[in-house]
Amino acid sequence: MATADSSGGNAPFPGSWTFLRGVVALADLPPAGPAEFAFAGRSNVGKSSLINALCRQKNLARASNTPGRTQELNYFIPSGSSSSQPALPPLALVDLPGYGFAQAPKAKVDAWTRLVMGYLAGRPSLKRVFVLVDARHGLKKIDEEVLTLLDRAAVSYRIVLTKADKVAASELASVLDRTQEAIRRRAAAFPGIIATSSETKLGIEELREAIVARLAG
Ligand code: GTP
Ligand code: MG
Repeated sequence: MATADSSGGNAPFPGSWTFLRGVVALADLPPAGPAEFAFAGRSNVGKSSLINALCRQKNLARASNTPGRTQELNYFIPSGSSSSQPALPPLALVDLPGYGFAQAPKAKVDAWTRLVMGYLAGRPSLKRVFVLVDARHGLKKIDEEVLTLLDRAAVSYRIVLTKADKVAASELASVLDRTQEAIRRRAAAFPGIIATSSETKLGIEELREAIVARLAG
């Protein structure tokens, strides 16, 4: 009889996902348990689009051209299961509101920024944070502040460049180098940076594999 593989090492990334809930206050977070993978980054960097690309579902997370689209912590979990394949340990993807400039009232932006920072620094079931950085802009001051917060809280994070389709290959190589150098001495940074495009799907499979590998680790 086959034994169940609970490591997740050989399991495929789930093929079907569903919205679990939106959270507007830390007190409303779902019970800790499933390994959480959060997507953080400046407003409009492409967090919601990246989750849709990963999950192969166009409208799972709402994306928009208006910075400040996502205003809650949105939890997504795998739906259904295929008994013919090894199961992954329970996991959730968490789409976060962006930090920095947003087209929303200041009081609202301040409230969700506090929510995001509180979540990032104090969620024990947070397995890894993907910090998304626009490939055209590289790390900004506010990104560095978030990295410092994660280093201090000892929360493991990995940088993901987004919108790679918008830069030339040489520019992408140079922003990768610069970003790698900038995080080299950071305590909680996972060393490999993944360059992605939700448009061309560059790096999306690599990111899926990184999530599955981290779940097993
Ligand atoms: P907030 O929720 O407002 O913080 O934004 P977000 O980080 O979730 O960004 P979102 O996914 O809503 O995308 C913002 C805009 O960038 C949308 O117009 C997307 O279509 C566009 N976009 C996202 N990813 C990519 C990408 O890889 N390439 C290109 N060309 N555009 C992208
Ligand atoms: Mg969003």
